[in-house]
Amino acid sequence: MARREIRVIGESKVLVGRGLLAHIPSELTPANGIHASKFVIVSDDNVWPLYGPRLVDAFRSLGGVTVHDVASEAADRASRPMGFAMGCSCGADEPVEGEDGKLLLTFQVAAGEASKCREVKAAIEDFMLLHRCNRDTCMIALGGGVVGDLVGYVAATFMRGVPYVQVPTSSTAMIDSSVGGKTAINVPAGKNLIGAFHQPVVVYADMDLLATLGRRELVEGIAEAIKMGVIRIPSLFELLEANPEQVMALEPKLIEQVMYDSIRGKAEVVAQDEREAGLRSTLNWGHTIGHAIEALKSPAMMHGECIAAGCVAEAELPLRLGIPWQLDRAKIKRIADCFASYGLPIHVPRGLSIEQLMRKMALDKKNRGNTIKCTIVTDIGVSIAQPQPVPREMMQAVMSESMAEGARLPEWVPHEGKVKAQAAGGQMAS
Ligand SMILES: NC(=O)c1ccc[n+]([C@@H]2O[C@H](COP(=O)([O-])OP(=O)(O)OC[C@H]3O[C@@H](n4cnc5c(N)ncnc54)[C@H](O)[C@@H]3O)[C@@H](O)[C@H]2O)c1
Ligand SMILES: [Zn+2]
Repeated sequence: MARREIRVIGESKVLVGRGLLAHIPSELTPANGIHASKFVIVSDDNVWPLYGPRLVDAFRSLGGVTVHDVASEAADRASRPMGFAMGCSCGADEPVEGEDGKLLLTFQVAAGEASKCREVKAAIEDFMLLHRCNRDTCMIALGGGVVGDLVGYVAATFMRGVPYVQVPTSSTAMIDSSVGGKTAINVPAGKNLIGAFHQPVVVYADMDLLATLGRRELVEGIAEAIKMGVIRIPSLFELLEANPEQVMALEPKLIEQVMYDSIRGKAEVVAQDEREAGLRSTLNWGHTIGHAIEALKSPAMMHGECIAAGCVAEAELPLRLGIPWQLDRAKIKRIADCFASYGLPIHVPRGLSIEQLMRKMALDKKNRGNTIKCTIVTDIGVSIAQPQPVPREMMQAVMSESMAEGARLPEWVPHEGKVKAQAAGGQMAS
């Protein structure tokens, strides 16, 4: 079980490798900073059947652990035509703890963005309270960014904060959402508006778990890896640029290097700027335009697809802003070609109203007057640490030109894939 370790903030770390899942239970010990006798695994109903039972078996093999596997019971019920059940009907007096007092609880939520909400957070909390979880509890998020953000936020507030571990299973969760400690839920006013900073004790980035992702879902996270390469790791960009087919086929050495570099990049950034006073905002490159596209095109387009188009459009900005830059036409083309080689869109989709896109951007509270704050990349691997004010007309022109250029080409069509249900419109906090 070869693995590499990346330190994040304080004691928080990411382990990158293969075959990690089966070893997790034996490592959740005081020696590793986890003082807990109760463990709660939360997953969604896509991921649970794939990996949940293996994680439970690994707990069982430790011995001395009482297992109350509500998630598998719910999955069983869901596979029969009885609908999907969250929570547990065992009654408050059950289950009793094992001799050494260790208890494993599992909980399953419906897959999709809609589960990242107050109601599901409350359901998990009530379930944990019913089973007398206290501060002596460690939560385990097994799933994509939805489960990670949700579990992280429950852990941040349960008994004023309990430790949690992330086991990211989507490429987005591995590269992005599991690292850095941002946790949140969505509310009717918008996405990620209620949350907390709470660092996971450890993140297990197990490459084996990516094998069950569809290509479109895998590539969605790769868009963030390309972004990371462009903002600060030229060698990552070059690796992604040179090997699209091998990366998409999960060639073992390559995919592990892509994940390792992307996670290291994010870890370095958040270690220097946890609360997004400056440097962390460079992670939002492509997201100013990307989020506006997403607000109008979701769920037909996924987040990573929207930010791919956003990155290519925003790459035009340094030339126009009159700041020193080395991102010439040839390099902008390399960036666009790299996104395109993964089947990602590289233009603002035709048919959108530029006025509406501008209105979505204006919702961001960081914007002042006639400018829009935006991360600026000045070369492949180099970005300005503080977001720069971009005149609204310039932003408008860049989007119009991107759309016009796209209109001359065949329309971009997404690969076949499961499209996730998204929370409705509104404001978006990253
Ligand atoms: N906290 C942060 O810093 C941060 C950063 C980026 C994104 N996010 C959040 O992350 C969420 C998006 O994450 P996501 O794209 O992982 O969404 P997700 O959790 O909905 O997962 C995507 C889909 O893939 C399925 N899936 C996950 N892993 C799988 C696997 N190994 N095999 C088969 N299917 C699998 C899921 O069941 C789901 O249907 C959003 O809510 C976003 O706001 C948070
Ligand atoms: Zn993103």
